[in-house]
Amino acid sequence: MSVSPAASREYPERAALRFVLNGRPVDVWAAPQETLLAVLRDTLGATEVKYGCGEGVCGTCTVLLDGAPINACLTLGVHAQGRTVTTVRGLASPAGATGAAADGMHPLQRAFVAHEAAQCGFCTPGMLLTAYAFLEKHPHPTRAEIRAALGGNLCRCTGYARIVDAVEACVRARPGREDVLRDP
Ligand code: FES
Ligand code: FES
Repeated sequence: MSVSPAASREYPERAALRFVLNGRPVDVWAAPQETLLAVLRDTLGATEVKYGCGEGVCGTCTVLLDGAPINACLTLGVHAQGRTVTTVRGLASPAGATGAAADGMHPLQRAFVAHEAAQCGFCTPGMLLTAYAFLEKHPHPTRAEIRAALGGNLCRCTGYARIVDAVEACVRARPGREDVLRDP
């Protein structure tokens, strides 16, 4: 995916930016002050990354930068230079190398569906990516730890219980991890 060099003439302050988005290299032009959220949504059309508060409060813009969850609304696009960015689309795609099954659905996504953990769905991409990154580092979480890990992601619809249920169920369903929850 690339943007025509004509963009560099239209916005002379813009600089070339190259990073890996969901397993594929992308080349874009970005102004120094542009947020990663703007680069992803407005330049690359990655509208699965949601714009909520724009102030680092709601977590709905969460993406993974080199595997770590960050608020794309508070991160400059230039910080992605030479790095890997994963959106919820990458979580679903085998190209994202996140452990998605052949059907393209990540187990967390399947659990969200099974537990009806999304209503309007606006918070869901950020929730999924935060949960994914948390479980990568903490494969044996308690329910309280799951709740704490998702504390920076706000949801106006679900009351959170079904979201935590889904993450819990995903942990339980992992092969050899049926007993991992220490405080059911
Ligand atoms: Fe980024 Fe709310 S839109 S934290
Ligand atoms: Fe609507 Fe979370 S499902 S904000």
